[in-house]
Formats: sequence, C-alpha cells, structure tokens
Amino acid sequence: PEEIKQEIVVSSPIVIGHRGAAGEAPENTLASFKLAAEQGSHMVELDIHLSEDGRLIVCHDETLDRTTDMSGAICSLRSDVIREADAGSKFSPSFAGERIPFLEEVYDLLPEQIEINVEVKDSRGTQFDEVLLNFLRADNRLDRTVVSSFDHKLLLRLKQAEPELRIGLLYAADLIHHAAYAALLETEVWSLHPHHELIGADDAEDAIAAGLHIYPYTANHPAQWDRLISIGVTGIITDFPGRLKEHLRSV
Ligand code: G3P
Ligand code: CA
Repeated sequence: PEEIKQEIVVSSPIVIGHRGAAGEAPENTLASFKLAAEQGSHMVELDIHLSEDGRLIVCHDETLDRTTDMSGAICSLRSDVIREADAGSKFSPSFAGERIPFLEEVYDLLPEQIEINVEVKDSRGTQFDEVLLNFLRADNRLDRTVVSSFDHKLLLRLKQAEPELRIGLLYAADLIHHAAYAALLETEVWSLHPHHELIGADDAEDAIAAGLHIYPYTANHPAQWDRLISIGVTGIITDFPGRLKEHLRSV
C-alpha cells in the first residue's frame, strides 16, 4: 500500500512584546520598542491616552507618577509638558532621558513588518475616536495594527466607523465560552486577549475554529508559555520577548 504522507504543520505562537520589552527596558519607551524589535518580536503591545491638546501619547498609567520623574494626569497635561518627563531613569539610570513617545514615533521607529497592538486605555478625550482613526488611516497604518481594549463598546464603535480595523477583545473575566462571547458582539473580531490563566484547551480550540486569533497576556515564565503553546494560542504577550523567542526555538 502506498504510504500516506501527512504534512504536519507545527505552528508557533507569535511573540508579542508587552509595552515593548518591559522586563528589560523602561516600558512604553522607544528604547523598549527597539529592544523588542531587535529581539525578534512579531508584534509589540503598547497603551495609549490622549493629552490635553489631543496628541496620542504612549503610556500605561493615567498619570506620569509611577514611570517618570513628573506627576499629573496625561489627559490634563499638554504634550510639550509630557515630553519633559524622564521615562527611563526610574527603570534604570542607564535609560535616563528616555521620553514618553507620541504614537507616531513608534510607527516610524519599527520596521513595517512588525505589527502594533494599540491598547486604548482612556478614550474619554474630545473626539478620541476620530483622532485615533484618522491617525490609523494615514500611511497604511491600519494594515499593521490591532486595536485592543477592555472597553468593548469602544471597539464596536471604532469597528463600525472603520470596518478595515482589526479589533482585539481584552478581558480578565473567566468567560463561560470565549468564542461564543466574541460571536455575541455580531461584528468581525480579529483576536481574543484573555488573561493568560483564563483560557483552556477547549476554549482555544473553539476560538481558532471560529477564525479568531488568541493573544493571552502577560505570560513571562516558561511553564506559562508551555501551557499556552500546548493549547494552541496564536500569540503570547510577554515582557520578555527575547526569552520567549529563545524558548520557542528550544521546544
Ligand atoms: O494588552 C495586554 C495587557 O497589557 C493588558 O493589561 O494592564 O498590562 O495594560 P495591562
Ligand atoms: Ca496594555
């Protein structure tokens, strides 16, 4: 009998650098995104807010207090003031002088093949949706972007206004059925971004069968990576993209 040849496709999850490579460089700075890119990330994750004068600012927290030498709420500060903050020294003196980036600087810095997962933290600013969508529509940025948020109403609104936009649902809830939740929204969802401990093998299988990507956050340890790989997630968000890349080479 003729031998049956079956091609076994082993697919690795993509490596998504969390706030760049936040384990090894000051989070959400150009130094962090550069390092994540050099370490072979396929995608980087970052967080955005709107400054008082309507600029898209890359920062996780609502205020400057934790990560910089300044204080105050981003939404009530002008961008030229925000730019005075040192976003590197608190991580390590060797990063002194790193600035809080404008979103366009990250797009300009990274090679086009590196995708960008923009997490919207605060969409309350005046005309936030328009500011973000106008930014993404320029320079083919939509093609390399996935916008995620814990605010699913915002994602639905953005998707309705811009059908080309890829949206990712972020959640820390222990959902009864992940793919069913996405289907309930009755819009095309690109990816699920569950907390990494909250997704199991059956959920992952159903989500992939439904055509969804699964990008759990934020897994930093080999045992966590191994579990996620074994259930078939399509990407892993990590503070250590270099280590994850190395780990994927060894499994
Ligand atoms: O986007 C995944 C993850 O970053 C969500 O949580 O608090 O790190 O922004 P947080
Ligand atoms: Ca985030």
